[in-house]
Order: sequence, then structure tokens, then C-alpha cells
Amino acid sequence: MTDRLTIRRPDDWHVHLRDGAMLAAVAPLTATRFARAIVMPNLVPPVTTTAEAIAYRERIRAAVPASARFTPLMTAYLTDHTDPADLAAGAAQGVFTAVKLYPAHATTNSAHGVTDVAKLDKVFAAMERAGLPLLVHGEVTRPSVDVFDRETLFIDEVLDGLVQRHPGLRLVLEHITTRRAADYVLAAPERVAATITPHHLVINRTDIFRGGLRPHLYCLPIAKREEDRIALRRVATSGNAKFFLGTDSAPHGVEAKECACGAAGIFNVGAAIEVYAQVFDEEGALDRLEAFASLNGPRFYRLPPNEERIVLVRAQQPAPEAVGAGPTRVRAFPETALAWRIEPAA
Ligand code: DOR
Ligand code: ZN
Repeated sequence: MTDRLTIRRPDDWHVHLRDGAMLAAVAPLTATRFARAIVMPNLVPPVTTTAEAIAYRERIRAAVPASARFTPLMTAYLTDHTDPADLAAGAAQGVFTAVKLYPAHATTNSAHGVTDVAKLDKVFAAMERAGLPLLVHGEVTRPSVDVFDRETLFIDEVLDGLVQRHPGLRLVLEHITTRRAADYVLAAPERVAATITPHHLVINRTDIFRGGLRPHLYCLPIAKREEDRIALRRVATSGNAKFFLGTDSAPHGVEAKECACGAAGIFNVGAAIEVYAQVFDEEGALDRLEAFASLNGPRFYRLPPNEERIVLVRAQQPAPEAVGAGPTRVRAFPETALAWRIEPAA
């Protein structure tokens, strides 16, 4: 039995760091665990231009400890009015690493998102030329669609057409939650990849209602059936280079979660690497954890893997603690003890 594992320091290819007091509360956790992170642009107002991304990157740098060896990788929030020339300029200046597609009203702070991807062909063409990956929140948003079917319908109604119309577009289907999404990415061209969160590997939709309504397990896309969770574990631990780590850690203050209309988002950054290690351990795939956490992402993004290593040790430790205070107090996932811990650097 492996009790100790050394891997390259992971990157987080999908995280929400927020702004202001929440940024100050959560950014140090990401920066001390991950070498790089793809930072989501769904602020209020969203990060839509190169200039806004430069300013946000400065606020992130100011919020992380001076000793942290951490690089935030910035994304642009696509709207119906995105200027393709600004995206290309932002990519050429090394400001944008990727571009995020939120279908309008799909999730938190997505009101300015895209109403019809067919109208953005010029933008996608510019991204193909610039080599800028498109990161996709893959849910249809028609209110009549069952929340558990939104990802599957998005693949059939939107995603597949997008992939086919833009043969040079590199694309990540973010935080996949269904067997259908796992199978779609497996069968898609090499340029299509997916991130998988820790929580979607350990909870299913029944867990959200276990013993009562559990708002801290509510996120979008919502957790699906057990057979979906099993399919996600299978592809995550398969070693297939198309699948890589993205926590989708998404902090909301306790009041915004524990109320009549609770916000979507699970704050998992404090235990994400440990939970992934537990999942890979349970699947007998610890030897593939490094590929998922530290190699497949850089390969997709055409960046070098990190040289620094971390050591994971099999050791019980308590559930991660809440972070922040007052309106920025955030409950952490999971609420159960952890089976692995990251050994502090010597
Ligand atoms: O649960 C979610 N929370 N899903 C998202 O797509 C956005 C995120 C957030 O920003 O809170
Ligand atoms: Zn997200």
C-alpha cells in the first residue's frame, strides 16, 4: 500500500477567486497549494477586456502572500459584444490564457453571458488564430429544461456544433458532471478536454438531500446520478490526457448559502488535492494522480509542468475549517475527515 506519494506541484485549471474582501480571504489558500490557477472572470461587473484583466491580476497579486510562488492565469468573460481584436491583443500580450463562455443566466454572475453562440463566430475564429482556448460552462439555460438535463442538452444542442464549426478551436468542457459529458470528451478530437472537480467525484445528487437539504453541496452544474459519478471517476483516474484538475472552488458567504434562495458554489480549495488523492487511492490509481493534477493541464495549455514537488501522506486529518469572517465567512468542503494530507515543505 502506498502511504507516501511525491508529485509535481499541481495547478488549478478552474477557480473563482472573487474580489475585495473575499479575494483577500480565499486567494492565499489557492496560492499556497497551487502553482498556477486559471481564474474565472465572473466578477460583478465581469472581466471582459484586456485592461480589466490586467487590473484584476494586480489585485490578485496583492492578495497573495509575498512568499507564495503563484501565477494567476487570466480569462476573458465572453459577452454578445466581445471585441475579437481585444482578445487577440490580450493573448499576444500574455494577459489572457483562455476565454470563458457562460451561457447567459446559466449560473452565478452570468447575466452578461452569451445569448447565442452562433453570433460569435468571428470571436471564435479570432481565438482559433490566437490559439486561445475556450472554456465552456456547458448548460442550456431555458427555464423549462430540467436542471439535471442541462449539461446533456448543451452537448447536443450547442457544444457539438461549436466543435465542428471551428476545427481549430481548443476547448475545455468545464466541471463535467455526467457520463454523457465524459463519453463526449473521450470521443471528441484531441483539442477537446475537460476539467473535473473534487466534489463531483465524491458526491451524487442524493447526497445534496441526505438527512435534509444541504446547501453547501449545491453547485452548478449540479451533481448528478451515482452512475455519472462513477463515470467521472473512471475517466479522471484513467490517465487519459484529456481530463485534468479544476477545483471550481467557488466561495459564497454563509448567509448567501444558508437562506431561502441559496447561491450555487462549493468552496473546496482547502482540501481539493487531498480529496483527489483519496479518490485516486480508492480507485487504485495513485500512480495516475500526477498526470491528472500536474501534467495533463499544462500539456493542454502548452505550458511547462511545474518543477517543484509536493509530498502527499496517508494520514487522517480533520475536515478543513471555515475561512474568513462576517460576510466573507465561507464553509469548506468536505465536512468529513480527510484521509490524505500534504506534507509541509521542509
Ligand atoms: O456553482 C457554481 N458556482 N457554478 C458556477 O458555474 C459558478 C460558480 C460561482 O461563481 O459561484
Ligand atoms: Zn466555475
